[in-house]
Amino acid sequence: MSRKTSISKPPAAFHQGPQNSCHLSGASRREFLQKTTLLAAGAAATTPLVLPRMVHAAGSGLIRIGLVGAGGRGTGAAINALQNASYPEVKLVAIADAFAEPLQRSLKAIQNQCPQKVDVPPDRQFVGLDAYQKLLACELDMVLLCSPPGFRPMQFEAAVKAGKHVFMEKPVAVDAPGYRRILAANALAKQKHLAVAVGHHLRHETKHQEIIQRIHDGAIGPIQYLRAYFNSGGVWFRPRKKDQTEMQFQVSNWYYFVWLSGDHIVEQHVHDLDVMNWIMRDQHPVEAQGMGGRQVRTPEWAEAQGMGRGAVGEIFDHHTVEFTYPDGAKMFSFCRHQPGTWMSFSEHAHGVKGSAAIEGHGAAQLWTDGKKTQEWKRDKDGHQVEMDDLFAALAASREYNEADWAANATMTAILGRMATYSGQVVRWDDAVQSQLDLSPPAYTWDAQPQPKPLPDGGYPCATPGLTKAW
Ligand SMILES: NC(=O)c1ccc[n+]([C@@H]2O[C@H](COP(=O)([O-])OP(=O)(O)OC[C@H]3O[C@@H](n4cnc5c(N)ncnc54)[C@H](O)[C@@H]3O)[C@@H](O)[C@H]2O)c1
Repeated sequence: MSRKTSISKPPAAFHQGPQNSCHLSGASRREFLQKTTLLAAGAAATTPLVLPRMVHAAGSGLIRIGLVGAGGRGTGAAINALQNASYPEVKLVAIADAFAEPLQRSLKAIQNQCPQKVDVPPDRQFVGLDAYQKLLACELDMVLLCSPPGFRPMQFEAAVKAGKHVFMEKPVAVDAPGYRRILAANALAKQKHLAVAVGHHLRHETKHQEIIQRIHDGAIGPIQYLRAYFNSGGVWFRPRKKDQTEMQFQVSNWYYFVWLSGDHIVEQHVHDLDVMNWIMRDQHPVEAQGMGGRQVRTPEWAEAQGMGRGAVGEIFDHHTVEFTYPDGAKMFSFCRHQPGTWMSFSEHAHGVKGSAAIEGHGAAQLWTDGKKTQEWKRDKDGHQVEMDDLFAALAASREYNEADWAANATMTAILGRMATYSGQVVRWDDAVQSQLDLSPPAYTWDAQPQPKPLPDGGYPCATPGLTKAW
């Protein structure tokens, strides 16, 4: 990112409280929040709280959920929440999306799956870039934040200030200022005893949990090096519509713009990078160096496909990074978006006594002396289990917070992008202090986000050796 960015703040109006008010029949929000706020371990004896289970028995234990970002994952997350195996008294009561079309599509899909658990009348359907603020003004107890990652720090902070329990998708930020904002908001969430879950579903898959426990128990000895892969053919493109502003085009095609997705090393590969940190006992790397670029998914390729040069946005189609952990262990990370190439979504650990191989959505295997010694098949889908676990914690009034290690996973991926974009060795301590803020000058449809399109309709991408990436 050669562009110079200062710390740009949204205009004051953007931070003002929402003007609308929406009301839900039933227990008052204040009353419910008192009842569902999680008990601090040490505060149990002094805090006059009613456990949700007892609230439920008294007939007022409904957990009211609002969905922000009603795309593919938001729709899935809402269904997972409504179908959770731990706490049946849940209802989706509000939806917010930047655009009307996905909101309606999502509402229909959720209603089809969970007809008894959806109560989202037109006055609790909010559209626009400020829709999340209107949703937060509703009487609800939990929000699912599933909009593009660039909005996450701002929306998470607002949700915590409003006193809502949160499920938010990964990654949780796209730049270092966003990472710091997540950590600060999470400190407040802990003070308020709010539950915070993050969509790192692999943390909730039995095969990952059991093999990583075996690694921590010494099954493969001290770690020498790790490998992580998220190689795929790439993702969707949403054609530019007539009369769309540049902001509308970029938000619609969020994947291809760094201020919105962080690039695919952050958006997708963060899953594997989190597993790497988890294997390293929730440490993060101290340094990274790498390379990457735009080799196949180029503006010329997009033009030849009839999509226009802007269809590939500004992100790379491959990144390779060597990360170093505090004890000197190396982690080699690969992610690629090139059709027709070798695909892999997997994590690998190599120790002095053996190795471990984990397929993201497949089996996990332990190896010693060239022989497979143990294997786990994939059990339940972590996307459902992560919701079961979250609601189980709420039902038990147990503290639940996944945001600190999730933020470090996001920052690990951002560190990797800083390395591939710049071509330099980047230290964690420098990266987290970065003032390079990618957010747009305003959150309005007529604002001009970075990057600006070139005269030929394409967008510039980072140039290693020239780009200042942190
Ligand atoms: N955990 C997983 O396995 C997994 C899988 C897929 C996606 N995700 C994550 O979920 C998030 C969404 O991805 P997706 O695949 O659903 O994308 P998507 O494009 O299908 O959905 C995103 C939705 O957010 C809406 N949106 C955009 N800006 C918004 C704003 N400011 N406020 C409210 N809504 C806004 C869009 O209109 C769209 O409907 C991303 O962070 C992605 O990384 C996680």
